[in-house]
Amino acid sequence: MTSLEGNDIISAKQFSREDLEYLLDWAIKIEQNKKKYSECMKGKIMGTLFYEPSTRTRLSFESAMLRLGGSVTGFSSATVSSVKKGETLADTIRTVSNYTDLIVLRHNKDGSATHAARFSDVPVINAGSGSGEHPTQSLLDLLTIQLECGKVDGLNIGLIGDLKFGRTVHSLTYLLANYDVNLYLISPHILKMQNRVMDYVQRKGNVNINETTDFLETIPKLDVIYMTRIQKERFPDPEEYEQVKDVFKFEKKHISILKPNAKIMHPLPRVNEISPEIDNIPNAIYFKQTYYGLMMRKAVIGLVMGVFK
Ligand code: NCD
Repeated sequence: MTSLEGNDIISAKQFSREDLEYLLDWAIKIEQNKKKYSECMKGKIMGTLFYEPSTRTRLSFESAMLRLGGSVTGFSSATVSSVKKGETLADTIRTVSNYTDLIVLRHNKDGSATHAARFSDVPVINAGSGSGEHPTQSLLDLLTIQLECGKVDGLNIGLIGDLKFGRTVHSLTYLLANYDVNLYLISPHILKMQNRVMDYVQRKGNVNINETTDFLETIPKLDVIYMTRIQKERFPDPEEYEQVKDVFKFEKKHISILKPNAKIMHPLPRVNEISPEIDNIPNAIYFKQTYYGLMMRKAVIGLVMGVFK
């Protein structure tokens, strides 16, 4: 087990299976003893530096810190900070690490969290780095699967949509590489999972991978249907986006082909990938998933700050 205390969280690749089980256990333990942990971050300040839009990630990190008794500072848009005047990420990080005990960073560049960590005196948590990774989203996704399906090993898990630019599916694939799962990667050809992610999973050797473009044929096999948004803002060519923007949509007519206990997940925000008509069916768990985000981020913050022993 690698202790998380004082460490940066940059990539989902940094976690072993043992680490993941430890994180999941803590997320559940804190939830079961909310009162006991409600003051454990007293006197500590978390900085949230968000250079890209966010609703769930920033607010669940901030809510987690506040519910653990800590305080929060930061910005939710680069346009209101000195970034607008041309300040580099390195200088911003050097400064904010003098004011805070922990930095949560979202940035449009792949590799930004690694770069930031080099200049920070306090731990840096990657809350989304370009089209690279989003490790804490994948931790909450794993918690969701564990709690809603009762296990992770043995499941048929489908990642659907933009597997090229989607950072959540990169990190989730890295985490799932620690489990014996059947992974179905469903995307149009131009949005296939990146080679660097495929190579990592293949090297780990636990996962059985199936790549396909066939949504309808694959859905009936799946225990977990993980829908994703086509990442419009990452496309170099807007015409290419137009070609694939509505490629896979989960609609009412698909309910009949689901396995009875299948769970439909989405990191959100959704655009057209999931029809609101299915929001109230028991299989649709994407709003519950947002609550699991709060649970997991409490565990992440506390373990990085070394307050849970
Ligand atoms: C995702 C992100 O920012 O990568 N959202 C999130 O953090 N829940 C997914 C997306 O933007 O499509």
